[in-house]
Amino acid sequence: MRKIGILTSGGDCAGLNPAIYALARSLYTRLDEVELIGIYDGYTGLIDLNFKKLELRDFDDLLDKGGTFLRSIRQSFKTIDVKNDKGYSKADRMVENYKALKLDALVTLGGNGTHKVANLLSQRGLNIVALPKTIDNDIFGTEETFGYQTAIQRGVEYIEVLKTTAASHSRIFLVEIMGNKVGWLPLETGVASGSDVILLPEIPYDIKKVAGAIKKTLKIRNYAIVTVAEGAFSKGESRKFKERVLERKAAGYNFVSDKLAAELAKIIPEEMRTAVPGHFLRGGAPNAYDINYTMQLGDYAAKLIENEVYGVTVAKIEGDIHHNLLSEVAGVAKPVTEENRLMKAARNVGISFGD
Ligand code: F6P
Repeated sequence: MRKIGILTSGGDCAGLNPAIYALARSLYTRLDEVELIGIYDGYTGLIDLNFKKLELRDFDDLLDKGGTFLRSIRQSFKTIDVKNDKGYSKADRMVENYKALKLDALVTLGGNGTHKVANLLSQRGLNIVALPKTIDNDIFGTEETFGYQTAIQRGVEYIEVLKTTAASHSRIFLVEIMGNKVGWLPLETGVASGSDVILLPEIPYDIKKVAGAIKKTLKIRNYAIVTVAEGAFSKGESRKFKERVLERKAAGYNFVSDKLAAELAKIIPEEMRTAVPGHFLRGGAPNAYDINYTMQLGDYAAKLIENEVYGVTVAKIEGDIHHNLLSEVAGVAKPVTEENRLMKAARNVGISFGD
């Protein structure tokens, strides 16, 4: 009998439920005897021993469902190995509870933070298989994370809707797309929605250049679309996202797009509106791409468990499904670079990045 724990951690996205569906059903097929333990609320459930023994029927209708039925909580990596006054850290508790549950392996579905904790637990001797989830697409070593394509599709549909009202009223729309440290989602959403300007966290903008690009667009069309990453910032501002959020909020702006609109209004007179889809990009059902993608990732994770290959994360490499060592990818940054083909093409067709 093999006993496998499953948890989902960090910000949710579309694809978590079908990934669990694929993992579980493939495990039932591959292993003669298997018991699956669903751990609730991410690592918090492993710390507090909040879990449920899962049966085949628990996975039955997960294939096309958004969110995660195991629920999710963010755990700060910084505090995971800090000892409390009784001499125990959260990591200690997790190791202890993994053993108490008699788990043979733990599958962690999550993003960067989740991978860092997974790596730490793997170094502590736990058998870990990770799956790469996040709308940000910022996990090093995999060409794509799941949830990303659904988020792009949602963002593009959202902007397409705004374009008709922007055209009717001859307005500029600043659309803020999630991505505080990396700009993959704003880049792909911005390009596919026909945005005129795309502002990314990797490329600090010059407000005069942004205004210039909008004016240029308004010479050939009566409206303009600016995709603004949640983490976009101007040259001269702090490079630290958290510091910028504090400064912006102190200045009375909830969203970065509101601050940008105020800066632009000083330079260009045209009517402007901001729009923030926010968590709309993360919620709802996965698209067909993400269902089919998570089917392959989940099945591959089951194969790793069948072969007792641990300390790894499943990855898309050169279009196929493989795995990387957690120790080699956890915590490594994956920013948008000028070498990226889409970046190059976007620049060549005249999309402005405000720099
Ligand atoms: O990491 C996913 C993400 O959606 C980021 O794009 C965004 O900056 C952040 O999570 C929002 O987090 P929360 O759901 O905690 O507000």
